[in-house]
Amino acid sequence: YDIYIPRDTSALANGADKLALLIEKEANQRNIDIKIIRNGSRGMFWLEPLVEVATDKGRVAYGNITLEQVESLFEQEFYLGEQSHTSCLGLSEDIPYLAKQQRLTFARAGITDPVNLTDYITHDGFKGLKQALQNTSQEIVTAVSDSGLRGRGGAAFPTGIKWQTVLDCPADQKYIVCNADEGDSGSFADRLVMEADPFMLIEGMVIAGLAVGADQGYIYLRSEYPVAHQILNEAIEKAYANNYLGQNIQGSGKSFNLEVRLGAGAYICGEETSLLESLEGKRGLVRAKPPLPAIEGLFGKPTVINNVLSLAAIPYILDKGAAAYADYGMGRSKGTLPFQLAGNLNQGGLVELAFGTSLQQLLDDFAGGTFTGKPMHAIQVGGPLGAYLPKEQWNTPLDYESFSAIKAVLGHGSIVVFDDTVDMLEQARFSMEFCVAESCGKCTPCRIGSVRGVEVIDKIRAGINPEQNTELLEDLCETMIHGSLCAMGGMTPFPVQSAFKYFIENDTAAKETAG
Ligand code: NAI
Ligand code: SF4
Repeated sequence: YDIYIPRDTSALANGADKLALLIEKEANQRNIDIKIIRNGSRGMFWLEPLVEVATDKGRVAYGNITLEQVESLFEQEFYLGEQSHTSCLGLSEDIPYLAKQQRLTFARAGITDPVNLTDYITHDGFKGLKQALQNTSQEIVTAVSDSGLRGRGGAAFPTGIKWQTVLDCPADQKYIVCNADEGDSGSFADRLVMEADPFMLIEGMVIAGLAVGADQGYIYLRSEYPVAHQILNEAIEKAYANNYLGQNIQGSGKSFNLEVRLGAGAYICGEETSLLESLEGKRGLVRAKPPLPAIEGLFGKPTVINNVLSLAAIPYILDKGAAAYADYGMGRSKGTLPFQLAGNLNQGGLVELAFGTSLQQLLDDFAGGTFTGKPMHAIQVGGPLGAYLPKEQWNTPLDYESFSAIKAVLGHGSIVVFDDTVDMLEQARFSMEFCVAESCGKCTPCRIGSVRGVEVIDKIRAGINPEQNTELLEDLCETMIHGSLCAMGGMTPFPVQSAFKYFIENDTAAKETAG
């Protein structure tokens, strides 16, 4: 009997390793022949550890399994797919949270064993690479351009244009760098790719290499992801052993080498130029642009630097065709975005959907209400540099243009929900404090501005000249937006301004009216 128990960080944090050992022991004692497969997570984190059993009709799922439940699971013959146990959720594919998604990038997540190459190939793996090996570099870049894929790290720059720039740049050496320094609060989609389907990222990077003429790749991984590190390295070793990496890939005469490099825990090293400095062995200090990394990137050579999710979308595009990908989404936001639901929610996890649904719809369909049972109040979309959205903005379609029209960002797709007990002045202060801690220190508006920001907010909190200090804060925010070298200082004011505009000022006005 095949039994699936995830090995990703969220399942491990909920005791998946101990559970797997106990299930194996119990099966041995009962002389039941089981095979435990350590798959990736399905992304329904509130159900971890999620145990699944393969049956003729599909996998049957059992959620939130504790060590204490193992005996009763065996008594009720869960290994046969019997559904009488109280923790049984029925067929996995019928769980509404999964059934309602449009999974392109995460189609294999939780289905395959992440380090089993045969499993990957059986589930459509390396089909994109096979296609790419039959194409010219220009044909690959054109397919990526036609798909409408835009950078999923947050800035949404068209991936095809970036690749074209690198392709058109003559050089003796080019690089592919994957930005896996996933630092946004509430985000975990990159981690899920690396822990659930690492071969897909490897395939995407090899295709990128073929597209622009680069034969060396690096994955810059945040050190806080030890499980992803281990899984990526296992997968890379297998890809080398089976000639999907290295010299003369699949007899094509093309080569591509890949290594994982660990960061050291600095948020700013997720900014691309700072990341490149760090990869070169230097302090993670932001570089001025131009020159763009596409022209002078790693070690001064033309470099494609893309987020994990952008590279992970590539195999699907090459395999199924640009039009198939562009069929999803709306306007200039093509394809799907893996939304990451986090914060005060009952059902935190990954939801991949085409662009265009509204935030309200997304939360109604997937979040299962707040964990505390209190009403949702503020939602921060796009990480610590993203705006806080009030209820009246929750009907905004989740696409890049609609969000930018309300001075918000979709960013990397993380969504953090707060209930009505949240102190928004404290949240605004936290944004500035975060910038104090994470600023690389290169430019004044960010380095000094964030320190002044904390001080001014503290004065407002203490009731010292609130009107004058609020005006001063607004001034400071504008200086940071227009005078900072990178998004760190340039976007920190977004959560601050939105907290004041939609929450703090409203609350003050309401209190004054009531008074
Ligand atoms: P950007 O707009 O300066 O650049 C976007 C990308 O396009 C870069 O790779 C840049 O080199 C490239 N590019 C621009 N013009 C080009 C051209 N003509 N040819 C080729 N390539 C070109 O944005 P930036 O500063 O790289 O990123 C800011 C974003 O990062 C923010 O919007 C934020 O949402 C996001 N972010 C994401 C985080 C995460 O954990 N994923 C953390 C913090 C911020
Ligand atoms: Fe460094 Fe901040 Fe300036 Fe960015 S805005 S370069 S993080 S000091």
